[in-house]
Amino acid sequence: MPDSIHVRGGTPLTGEIAVLGAKNAVLKHMVATLLAPGTHRIENVPGILDVEIMGRVLEHVGASCRQDGTVLTVDVPDDPVPEAPLELVRQMRASILVLGALLARTGEARVALPGGDDFGSRPIDFHVRGLEAMGAEFDLRHGVLYGTAPRGLHGTDVFLEFPSVGATENLLLAAVLADGTTTISNAAREPELTDLAEYLMKMGAKIDGAGTSTLEIHGVPELRPAVHRTVPDRLEAGTYLVAGAMSRGRVTVTDCRPEHLRMELRKLEATGCAITTTETSITVEGPERPVAVDIATLPYPGFHTDMHPQIVSYLSVADGTSLVTENVYAGRFRYLGELNRMGCDIHADGQHVVIRGVDELSGCEIEGCDIRAAAALTIAGLRADGETIIRDAHHVDRGYDGFVGKLASLGADITRA
Ligand code: EPU
Repeated sequence: MPDSIHVRGGTPLTGEIAVLGAKNAVLKHMVATLLAPGTHRIENVPGILDVEIMGRVLEHVGASCRQDGTVLTVDVPDDPVPEAPLELVRQMRASILVLGALLARTGEARVALPGGDDFGSRPIDFHVRGLEAMGAEFDLRHGVLYGTAPRGLHGTDVFLEFPSVGATENLLLAAVLADGTTTISNAAREPELTDLAEYLMKMGAKIDGAGTSTLEIHGVPELRPAVHRTVPDRLEAGTYLVAGAMSRGRVTVTDCRPEHLRMELRKLEATGCAITTTETSITVEGPERPVAVDIATLPYPGFHTDMHPQIVSYLSVADGTSLVTENVYAGRFRYLGELNRMGCDIHADGQHVVIRGVDELSGCEIEGCDIRAAAALTIAGLRADGETIIRDAHHVDRGYDGFVGKLASLGADITRA
């Protein structure tokens, strides 16, 4: 796949596009399959790189994965290899979620520790401490975390310091097969996590409180394969809505769940967008020029940190000064320098991003940085004068199925070259 996106700004996007299942749910469903031998079927699966990488993790464990359109079939063996190697964990942090599932299923797990990334150090201490409270023992040797559960995993009370999505998921995946009841307090409430709980319940798990900040999981001796349709990707939907607004266009996103984007839609409305929703679609009509707004990213149902770069890109042309406060990650600001090359006036001060709106952007060559940053820079390109070239465009392939094609179908002057 060519590694640059070329976009020429100035065309208002118009039309309708459908979104697929959420990356951050599918990846966890794939890990959950490891909890039960047999054939699982996951539907509404996007064709993205992260699904391919997770497929390689599962294959390393001994499972086989087949994606046919939007249907993913996973065959899980009776005796999985309890290991996730560095070359895969390095490519995708979500690989560490096999820790809880493999410990629960086999009593051991060897998982390479992910390092830091562009968002800051992103430790996994909550995952490890919670699993230890359930009876797991860990040893870190040569960059690999060796986990064992010599007496099996047992239910316990875990109180998370922060409603970490990954830690809640790792503990949930471990607890469904543990002996007794596990209570996770201050649990994450993200819709993707609720979707994982629903999938696990179809597999025979007993979970109370999905979607609330207290999860109560009653362990069962075994689970069975299930069929599940993945919840729509609110980040994919949100990204195309911001793109539509930025281009001064009118875009309808279908096959989505507007209630999962309440805060994001409220903020878009505050900038002057006209928003209408049905049960499964959202239409945005962008203003001539956005009004500046202040936003703080927070765990769900707060404004999603993975919509932060896209909204900053949009607010770069607002009338006035906006403040976006990043509360989830220590830093995800590298893309700001790229936006400033396009004529934006943005700086980070600690956790705060100060965006002084400018009248216009001018296209130039910039670097993709990460999934959401690459999407955000493309969004800037949709309004910029002349051509914007986003290098390292492979980042968008990790999280967006047919990103360039979908924008082109809305009328954008965009190619992959
Ligand atoms: N944290 C700790 N210790 C831990 C776990 C987390 O300090 O043991 C901190 C992190 O460093 C971070 C914060 O807690 O500052 C939140 O991290 P969280 O665990 O909630 O995030 P995650 O599970 O690693 C998932 C998504 C991210 C998304 C975050 C927040 C997946 C595969 N990834 O990551 O998605 O930003 O939740 O909603 O589900 C993306 O899709 O582009 C992406 C980065």
